[in-house]
Amino acid sequence: MSGQRIGSDFLSGLRRLLGGAGATAAEWPLTDAEYLERHYESMPGFSSRFSAEVAVRLLKYQQAHDIAGAVGEIGVLMGRSFIALALASAPGDACLAIDDFTWPEDVFDKFMVNCGAMGVDMARLVTIRANTTTLAAGDILARLGGVKLRFLHVDGGHTAEVLRHDLAMALQVMEPGGIVCLDDMLHAQYPELAIAVRDQLAAEPDFVVFCIVDRADLIAAAKYLVCRRAYAVRYQDLLRDAFAEDVFPAPAEFAAFPALILSKDARLVPHYRDKIEIPAA
Ligand SMILES: C[S@@+](CC[C@H](N)C(=O)[O-])C[C@H]1O[C@@H](n2cnc3c(N)ncnc32)[C@H](O)[C@@H]1O
Repeated sequence: MSGQRIGSDFLSGLRRLLGGAGATAAEWPLTDAEYLERHYESMPGFSSRFSAEVAVRLLKYQQAHDIAGAVGEIGVLMGRSFIALALASAPGDACLAIDDFTWPEDVFDKFMVNCGAMGVDMARLVTIRANTTTLAAGDILARLGGVKLRFLHVDGGHTAEVLRHDLAMALQVMEPGGIVCLDDMLHAQYPELAIAVRDQLAAEPDFVVFCIVDRADLIAAAKYLVCRRAYAVRYQDLLRDAFAEDVFPAPAEFAAFPALILSKDARLVPHYRDKIEIPAA
């Protein structure tokens, strides 16, 4: 494992470096909303903007309800989704970025430049450059000074074996009200992932999938949002209100817990809203 915590004096150096490297230099500083609106789609990466908007909304809710902790991502690539999380984090939050930075080439420098360009507070950035399968929960907590996470986006290795490892590790480092966001569930290229999650959560009955953020397209594929059962209804209520236009009117029928489905698919949501009676809560 290797990693570093970047001092704030690193910012000025980064800003000098921004002569077109990585993302387009942004007006300074950026809010999460400005990043999502103006820069998200042009940032190299895969996660949908809709899923990032959902994540940001959940982070704001947590902050308003004293659910504290670090925010982070496994599989940051060049920062597309991580930057949204970091910009939406609270001033004291550590922002954890884990990646082996080997795909499609060494993109560590691009990741750092993009974070700096978009106004991420580099003093709060904690990077772990490693293959996650070499990491244990204790390694993450050690880098965070013992602080647990309130939001972790898991978007690293896409085999069932690596996901099982990452999910097990994630559940160990979450705050009680923490949320694990699992990428590329139900993606046609990775049919084993959702099965692995189902099996793993069956052995962890305290955790449930409370929401599926539907895929924007085949690449920006669906995400599962996982939290402790005790928090699931309040997070669902929040998202049902915040994304009322995007709520599929029937739940995802997990045996353990009915999950909210959010989708931007205009063929799906309005069509079904007319045809399916919304069940009473
Ligand atoms: C699909 S990309 C992530 C995309 C990014 N989250 C986004 O939304 O743009 C997957 C990333 O995970 C990294 N990765 C894959 N397997 C990994 C592993 N076992 N440990 C650490 N990083 C890994 C890859 O190098 C790559 O940067």
